[in-house]
Amino acid sequence: MKLNIALLAGDGIGPEVIDQAVKVSNAIAKKFDHEITWTPALTGACAIDAVGEPYPDATHEICMAADAVLFGAIGHPRFDNDPKATVRPEQGLLKMRKKLGLFANVRPTFTFPSLIDNSPLKRERIEGTDLIILRELTGGIYFGERGRKDDGNTAFDTCTYTRAEVQRLAKLGFEMAMTRGKKLCCVDKANVLETSRLWRETVQDMEKDFPEVTVSYEFVDAVAMRLVQWPNTYDVLITENLFGDILTDEASVISGSMGLMPSASIGVHTSLFEPIHGSYPQAAGKDIANPLATVLSAAMMFEDAFGLKEEAELIRAVVNKSLAEGIVTEDLSGKNKAYKTSEVGDWLAKNI
Ligand code: IPM
Ligand code: MN
Repeated sequence: MKLNIALLAGDGIGPEVIDQAVKVSNAIAKKFDHEITWTPALTGACAIDAVGEPYPDATHEICMAADAVLFGAIGHPRFDNDPKATVRPEQGLLKMRKKLGLFANVRPTFTFPSLIDNSPLKRERIEGTDLIILRELTGGIYFGERGRKDDGNTAFDTCTYTRAEVQRLAKLGFEMAMTRGKKLCCVDKANVLETSRLWRETVQDMEKDFPEVTVSYEFVDAVAMRLVQWPNTYDVLITENLFGDILTDEASVISGSMGLMPSASIGVHTSLFEPIHGSYPQAAGKDIANPLATVLSAAMMFEDAFGLKEEAELIRAVVNKSLAEGIVTEDLSGKNKAYKTSEVGDWLAKNI
């Protein structure tokens, strides 16, 4: 099969972890006789430095023409500490999500048997955890009207949702639940927010179309608590953009390291696959970051964008083997030897 993939390494540790996913993907292509064309493109702070814009039109064209996008991370501290910066790397990510129509962000949380004691939570709390948070990605407060008034002394951000936006996300959630544990949790703040009441009403109306799915409605504050108490009681959770942003960071540490969890963003145009961790600038260029979240994002890409399940399963099996044999970066190595990012990538590629 011919696979045409846009490669957006981005900032910070992005290029290093992306390199390992490329090594692993190329090994898969060789083994299964696929032909991958990688087309690199700029995004984030490096794109601002090069062309003054975090998601340049040229990058958008490359993404639109590709079958899938593999993405590293974006962000740079020099922008975080400057509240007056007018162009920010993160705007590139938001623009990319909007222009590619990536309205659904699939963020799984699962545990690796060999890492269960790396989790900050007790074994009995997390064993068997296998949940997906489906986060709405192109609406809500991230994209609503915002600004300042009263000579800059009052600031506002607006959260807006349409019924159609909720329906398309919820439909994916119901369909996903049907292929898994048939449980769907709608996470909202319907005791306070009008947008949440629209979410709840819309999902309630859809229940009759999916009679086999058991639906629960929970407030986001309660979910934040239950996620660390009994994460293994959840299956698929659907939620709006900002709640999803916060809950997926919380969920990502359950597995033992934030460097482990992959994600997919899907919607109207080309799907995008990325680790859920950020650009981790303190580690950039040091060859120490955990590449597994990016490698597992490549696995998701093989399966979801190309229907290549066997390839995806092999990547996951080799990742599990590396964990079991202790071929891990410093975030997971404890008192044992820590391998470099590139060494982990080489080992994975060789074992494929
Ligand atoms: C994420 C990130 C982004 C978000 C930032 C970088 C804009 O935190 O993908 O979760 O808030 O969506
Ligand atoms: Mn986030």
